[in-house]
Amino acid sequence: MLHTTRVLQVDAAEPAAGDIEVAAVILRAGGLVAFPTETVYGLGANALDSRAVARIFEAKGRPFTDPLIVHIAADRQLEEVAEAVPPLAHRLAARFWPGPLTLVLKRRARVPATVSGGRDTVAVRMPNHPVALRLIAAAGLPVAAPSANLFMRPSPTQASHVLDDLSGRVDLILDAGPCPIGVESTVLDLTTPIPVVLRPGGAPVEDLRALVPDLEILNRQVSADDSEAQPAPGMFVKHYSPRARLLLIAGAPDVVLHRMVAVATALQNRGLQVGVLAAAEDAQNFKAIDQVAILGRRDDLAGISHQLFAQIRTLDKSGVDVMVAGQFARTGLGLAIWDRLLRAAEGMIIHASAPPAPVQIGALKITV
Ligand code: TXA
Ligand code: MG
Repeated sequence: MLHTTRVLQVDAAEPAAGDIEVAAVILRAGGLVAFPTETVYGLGANALDSRAVARIFEAKGRPFTDPLIVHIAADRQLEEVAEAVPPLAHRLAARFWPGPLTLVLKRRARVPATVSGGRDTVAVRMPNHPVALRLIAAAGLPVAAPSANLFMRPSPTQASHVLDDLSGRVDLILDAGPCPIGVESTVLDLTTPIPVVLRPGGAPVEDLRALVPDLEILNRQVSADDSEAQPAPGMFVKHYSPRARLLLIAGAPDVVLHRMVAVATALQNRGLQVGVLAAAEDAQNFKAIDQVAILGRRDDLAGISHQLFAQIRTLDKSGVDVMVAGQFARTGLGLAIWDRLLRAAEGMIIHASAPPAPVQIGALKITV
């Protein structure tokens, strides 16, 4: 399936109609197009064509059981892919679409089961990005699209990330620059008696509560064991893994900073290449550390989410052996940031005020 991947630069606000049409033709012909959304880049195919959908799984190396999100560009498309849509779904759509909210609903039979990993449900969202919306409208199809990364790699927020992972595995990439939000959509399951947030994301849970006061949030902090006992489909704890190990320090900001410096220094003293994911105001504390990637100011959670995956990829590319990150506020977008850091850390947390304990990094056992 290896062939050349074409990249088209498009304007994020006003993409040229000709470029959108090139991409739409590929989708209609059963091909794969990576496109920007407001959250992350998606790897799109015709959601109504099971062979095209199968190509997505092959290209990503993703298990067929891990369901995809169907992207739409017009309200009427919701009823074309989902059935028995409850009034709450329409209210949420009216308030949050286009935007970073994905709704899990009952799947219509015309949507192949492969899209949903064999489930009788379907996840749907209308992305808030002119390129995505125009592409879906031009194709005249619902577009199945997971994040355009290789399975188990951080989600792509720039076209270069897509190329790094999927060059030769996707027909076309529409490059409209970095994705504004930088973390994936919030996934809300409306098929259960009480709505459940399966994945925190770009739409803050606090905002959803205004319309869904009784919603529950799935505890995604389960075992670090990937395959067994997943709380929800595709919700592997190890999901956004950098190649390097990531150590996540939890606690109040000043204690976290102190421990991050201690941990990073201890690792470096044992000869490891260390990268730190730092808040802007903390950067000067890490002058002695090999690599420092700044996420943004501590109070700017939107800035941090915008940078998060890109900076994890930057550190990975620089060849560090281990990354050190600290907890930010867990409100608003902070819940998604915490969730992605936790996954990158494979569920392992170091509590900032806990006594030093050994961690295994490759062949080394280091007390941090
Ligand atoms: O922001 C986003 O959501 C991005 C952009 C491209 O739209 N897409 C994205 O897709 O993050 P993906 O495939 O990486 O994550 C989709 C996740 C699945 O892993 C699964 O956890 C959940 O959404 N999901 C999809 N369909 C589902 C279903 N029918 N039931 C339960 N969960 C579902
Ligand atoms: Mg993904």
